[in-house]
Amino acid sequence: MNVLGIETSCDETGVGIYCASRGLLAHCIHSQIEVHAEFGGVVPELASRDHIRKTLPLTEWALKEAGLNRNELDGIAYTAGPGLAGALMAGASIARSLAWSLDIPAVAIHHMEGHLLAPLLEREAPDFPFIALLVSGGHTQLVAVEGIGRYQLLGESLDDAAGEAFDKTAKLLGLPYPGGPELAKLATRGDPHRFKFPRPMIDRPGLDFSFSGLKTFALNSLNVFDMEERDEQLKADIACAFEEAVADTLAIKCRRALQETGSRTLVLAGGVSANQHLRRRIDREMQKMGARAWYPRPEFCTDNGAMIAYAGCLRLMAGERAEPAFGVRPRWPMGELKPPTVTP
Ligand code: KG4
Ligand code: ZN
Repeated sequence: MNVLGIETSCDETGVGIYCASRGLLAHCIHSQIEVHAEFGGVVPELASRDHIRKTLPLTEWALKEAGLNRNELDGIAYTAGPGLAGALMAGASIARSLAWSLDIPAVAIHHMEGHLLAPLLEREAPDFPFIALLVSGGHTQLVAVEGIGRYQLLGESLDDAAGEAFDKTAKLLGLPYPGGPELAKLATRGDPHRFKFPRPMIDRPGLDFSFSGLKTFALNSLNVFDMEERDEQLKADIACAFEEAVADTLAIKCRRALQETGSRTLVLAGGVSANQHLRRRIDREMQKMGARAWYPRPEFCTDNGAMIAYAGCLRLMAGERAEPAFGVRPRWPMGELKPPTVTP
């Protein structure tokens, strides 16, 4: 079964083709950084228009790369939410029209399910069940994963997502969009001992997070200094302390989640899981407790079409088909997901 996956939930157009027997055949990502950079963040209308421009050319490219023609596709998966309404609608309309014209089934995929399954695209991959830490621009969640569509939310951020905190802190340090990777780059030149940021909510029981205070802490740390004192080193030192606090907090809560559930397998996914400092910190924590963490390759941490093709392939193989009428779900709690439903 060859499945085309289309991802257009935010500021990246991603297309992938996954084959049930041969694995990932092709994938490509078009980033909209250039479109949004001058505005310092994602402009939804510009995002939708760019997805409309790029989705079909990327699909043609992926088909060629995979050595397939359109008629050899057996199904089309697309991100139906959560995300920006217009951006989702662009991908959904193209995916559904293409599926209709080729007379093949379509399947609507939850963006975070795509992220969650991305580490399973690797040759060496963990087995169900596992605990997943989803850390993206919009979500920070700890989830107990029993199998496809069998997800139990253990904890989540009560305010900013980890990626959002990275992006906002980057902005107040004067770094360009997209902030997370820029802040991580700057942090490598920072002194980890100059500032000590708090580790939010670690003294409270439970597995929830709160990251908005760290951004304020960064702002207050910066404001102690006069404008002329705010040099690159100061910003790097703040970035370093911020990154350390996020990584430490996430690692502590991951340890707690594994302890509470008795699991020894942790999966990290979502844009922030590309962060090298976080990976090292999590690996240290896992080593201490005889557990193991699994990560997607860096290009599959952030938004991509491969993860949607893969999730779609699993659901289509299990017999799921999208309803004839379609819409998108800009807000779509992951708890509403179910195992694949067989459509007669
Ligand atoms: O998963 P993703 O591509 O999109 C969402 O579903 O939100 O995640 C994007 C988020 C952004 O907040 C971005 O700044 C953050 O992931 N991010 C990073 C890194 N790479 C991406 N944050 C920290 N370090 C990175 N290396
Ligand atoms: Zn994402």
